[in-house]
Amino acid sequence: MSSPHLRDATAADLDALAAVAAEALSTLPLWTELIPDRGERRAVMAALYRGMFADALARGGRVRLAEDEHGVTAAALWSSPGNWRPSTLRGLQALPGMVRALGLRGTVRLMTVSGRGSAVAVKSHPSEPHWYLAVVATADRSRGRGLGTLLLEDGLAHVDARGMPAYLECEPHLEGWYRRFGFGVRQVLEIPEGIVDGAVLDHQLGMWRIPSHA
Ligand SMILES: CC(C)(COP(=O)(O)OP(=O)(O)OC[C@H]1O[C@@H](n2cnc3c(N)ncnc32)[C@H](O)[C@@H]1OP(=O)(O)O)[C@@H](O)C(=O)NCCC(=O)NCCS
Repeated sequence: MSSPHLRDATAADLDALAAVAAEALSTLPLWTELIPDRGERRAVMAALYRGMFADALARGGRVRLAEDEHGVTAAALWSSPGNWRPSTLRGLQALPGMVRALGLRGTVRLMTVSGRGSAVAVKSHPSEPHWYLAVVATADRSRGRGLGTLLLEDGLAHVDARGMPAYLECEPHLEGWYRRFGFGVRQVLEIPEGIVDGAVLDHQLGMWRIPSHA
């Protein structure tokens, strides 16, 4: 197997990026609870992530990918300072596909639950200028080969060169992994009434990193 290399993503990579993110993130308990069917879950998530990647490319974000002879195998999406807010337009564009996959009831449920999580994330998002790591994902077949590390180090070198801090939200179990790169816990994001129809919204961590030379 050839060793993967990193490069900037372009619009031609959007489907592959979305597929990798959907695959990597589709085992999060919230998503498995909300959309039990694996195929439906991946399709809905891919549509959402495709929109996020497209939006980042359109708004000066930094989308980097790792690829090997089989194609894209890991990706990171960094939103540029001031551009971290999720795009309402992209969300609306994903709606018809969501309704097709989940029906109206399922779509309303998904939006209610995920809306609570994102409301907390948006409200507590740091106001200081920073780069925001919105997504980092490695395809199942490539986990544990150092690609996530490569993408983090690559992104942080870019951020450090600009003397900027970085921020991310993550599942609590990833705290130790992000600490390796100099992130520290800045806040715990508690989701009020975090259970909807049996879907548990666990708390998340907001992690912050000052530039390494600061
Ligand atoms: C997190 C993720 C991107 C890491 O990607 P990866 O390419 O497997 O990462 P690497 O191979 O560079 O690093 C794996 C290392 O991190 C360690 N690691 C993995 N999860 C960890 C955790 N929860 N806490 C501490 N270390 C962890 C592994 O033990 C391994 O250690 P080693 O380098 O000593 O062998 C990948 O697991 C993934 O896509 N997860 C699902 C998506 C996700 O949760 N993304 C983050 C939120 S957006």
